[in-house]
Amino acid sequence: MPLKPHVEVTPAAGKLGILLPGMGAVATTFIAGVLAIRRGLGTAIGSLTQLGHIRLGKRTDGNSPAIREYVPLASLDDLVFGGWDIFPENAYDAALRAGVLESKHLEPLRLELAAIRPMTAVFDRSFVKRLDGPNLKEGASKMELAVQLMDDIRAFKRANHCERLVAIWCGSTEVYRQASAVHASLAAFEDGLRESSDDIAPSQIYAYACLKMGVPYVNGAPNLSVDTPALLELARAYRLPVAGKDFKTGQTLMKTILAPGFKARMLGLEGWYSTNILGNRDGEVLDDPESFRSKEVTKLGVIDHILQPHLYPELYGNISHVVRINYYPPRGDNKEGWDNIDIRGWLGYPMQIKVNFLCRDSILAAPILLDLALFMDFAQRAGMHGIQEWLSFYWKSPMTPDGLYPEHDLFIQLMKLKNTLRYTRGDELITHLGAEYYD
Ligand SMILES: NC(=O)c1ccc[n+]([C@@H]2O[C@H](COP(=O)([O-])OP(=O)(O)OC[C@H]3O[C@@H](n4cnc5c(N)ncnc54)[C@H](O)[C@@H]3O)[C@@H](O)[C@H]2O)c1
Repeated sequence: MPLKPHVEVTPAAGKLGILLPGMGAVATTFIAGVLAIRRGLGTAIGSLTQLGHIRLGKRTDGNSPAIREYVPLASLDDLVFGGWDIFPENAYDAALRAGVLESKHLEPLRLELAAIRPMTAVFDRSFVKRLDGPNLKEGASKMELAVQLMDDIRAFKRANHCERLVAIWCGSTEVYRQASAVHASLAAFEDGLRESSDDIAPSQIYAYACLKMGVPYVNGAPNLSVDTPALLELARAYRLPVAGKDFKTGQTLMKTILAPGFKARMLGLEGWYSTNILGNRDGEVLDDPESFRSKEVTKLGVIDHILQPHLYPELYGNISHVVRINYYPPRGDNKEGWDNIDIRGWLGYPMQIKVNFLCRDSILAAPILLDLALFMDFAQRAGMHGIQEWLSFYWKSPMTPDGLYPEHDLFIQLMKLKNTLRYTRGDELITHLGAEYYD
């Protein structure tokens, strides 16, 4: 029996444009991956929208449709890509430079990728100290730059015959800043744009321009970007979905898989030491202590929220949690992460777990971008607006409404995501309650 009439979702007809501020390793691995999958050159491994199923009804019903058949998502054939970067290289050259995908994947896509050229970027070195590039906009004020971005969005939509757009920030991690007076309301923010306030980051100018153009906005990096009262006010006013922050890919993914397990078994935790070596451009930017601070904050929050030391002081009241990232060029995008986890068992006896994850950062991030683009477009067509907490699954530091703590446990996040999809269809939510006890 449906719980409620299902939510009206307009069909996913026509082209969906995906706009990427920042066309580096993650963005080009995503674009090339979608083009390759479209041609049958690979499988969308890691993508819930492409490979996931969703159970409906009782286990005995045997009814688990594919997610992409259950809710109306845009087809991969309808995706079109564009974006901005401070470097003028096209997507083929940028993908080669990033060194993630091999020529067996890139060469067949060369022409398609080379046709994707980044638009001129809005950039400010005081927010990304290790980079500088020539492909930049000029304007008399930050508001003027925002207007130029809006012109880009309009022109891209027209030139590519897009019905709808979604934007995903894939730019470098900006330095750590907290929201200030200029972010307190939309009016203050717009004054700040006109006065070119030093507190407004480039990523916030993109977020503003996208929202003003009716484009849902996703923040893949740890810096604030859309996560400010001013831009949330704009998203609410325009009834647009927003989501962030910081794609949950390697080490933090492992943390949100392992920590819920320790807690489920009431095992104690004394310390978690995480270190990484990373040699791509992201690693170079994160070598700057101020950009690293943004990352450190999103990485450190995870364990406390999962383990709830205020409820379990004897197990989790005194945890030493350390996170390090070291820039080490020979490793490129193939990051290596080490975790040393000090746990305690019965009567307090200590044990250790070591995790050595030889991962590929952008290979882990690309399917997340695909899912977010399709789910955010779905959310907009379903009339869902504001912070999309049901997509917490994808974030190191999920955005939450004021007064709510984020949900970090990967398995609760997945349940929330799937139950949200069931809700939109008016299907019964799955609680895993054993109905047989109540017959
Ligand atoms: N790869 C992962 O697993 C992962 C996980 C979580 C978050 N992230 C975040 O995703 C972002 C992208 O990562 P990446 O590995 O592709 O990095 P990257 O350095 O390869 O790409 C970032 C691109 O953004 C561009 N850029 C910087 N500032 C810009 C601006 N203001 N406007 C337009 N372009 C700008 C840079 O020139 C660069 O090409 C980073 O912020 C990173 O921290 C990545």
